[in-house]
Amino acid sequence: MRAGLLQTFFPVDLPYTLGWDVAGTVAEIGTGADGFAVGDRVIGRLDGGGAAAEYVRASVAVLVAVPDSVPLANAAALPVAGLTAWQAVFEHGNTAAGKRVLINGAGGGVGGFATQLAKYAGAEVIATASARSAETVLRQGADRVIDYTTGPVGAALDGPVDTLLNLVPLSPPDAAALVPLVRPGGRIVSIATPVEPPADAGVTAMHMVARNDVAQLAALVELVDAGAVTIDISQSRPLADLADIHRSSDAGRTRGKVVIIP
Ligand SMILES: NC(=O)c1ccc[n+]([C@@H]2O[C@H](COP(=O)([O-])OP(=O)(O)OC[C@H]3O[C@@H](n4cnc5c(N)ncnc54)[C@H](OP(=O)(O)O)[C@@H]3O)[C@@H](O)[C@H]2O)c1
Repeated sequence: MRAGLLQTFFPVDLPYTLGWDVAGTVAEIGTGADGFAVGDRVIGRLDGGGAAAEYVRASVAVLVAVPDSVPLANAAALPVAGLTAWQAVFEHGNTAAGKRVLINGAGGGVGGFATQLAKYAGAEVIATASARSAETVLRQGADRVIDYTTGPVGAALDGPVDTLLNLVPLSPPDAAALVPLVRPGGRIVSIATPVEPPADAGVTAMHMVARNDVAQLAALVELVDAGAVTIDISQSRPLADLADIHRSSDAGRTRGKVVIIP
């Protein structure tokens, strides 16, 4: 968004405050808004942006209460990545007990949640990650990690999977190389580069854009509160560091979720 690459999908008026994920306590309530009280701890996905700030204005329709047992700074990492993972794993990936799932890009923010949710669903989870994320991904429940930096993922995979979740931007040849990793009748869900299998592969593929869903966000908060899902915070930084965090992310130097504390 900062580079203007998403103007067609998310046109914005300048000046614009970045950030969709927010966590905080309710400071004031607008006329006619109900469901929350001043002091309530909440999180939400702000589709209009504005989250990278000390105060934000949000519709009550996008907010979810967070119990005292869940640290707000951790919960801030849930909305965008958690909802995207939820929809990829459950709605589009049809992940269930007994399924074999390959998560390509498990070391990222979405990947950490996707790994845990697929495992929670009872699937066998094979995850791609580099050495810096492998331990975290195994702790999150992956049955096996394939290091994508040491060779083609397919060469290390012992048989095809039912579902492949692609969570990373890829070159067209790298995207095409994922298709044979899925059994005929299986499916590919990509949140980044679309993967387009040839018709004779017998593989269903879809590209998804996650939507806001407070019921799913509330379910994620419950899973975190119950200890079934943990939040992989790799850095906690002040708001003044935002530009530096963006540069690090652009350069591929960040992993997991980065939380900003105003
Ligand atoms: N469609 C949607 O609705 C939607 C929603 C959210 C995000 N997205 C997009 O989805 C992608 C993932 O989002 P994110 O927030 O999870 O990103 P992220 O946290 O920035 O992901 C970074 C991680 O990607 C991993 N990675 C990089 N190249 C890889 C490769 N070739 N193979 C496997 N893993 C690789 C790295 O893992 P290691 O640490 O293991 O090296 C790194 O930690 C982004 O492109 C984002 O724009 C789409």
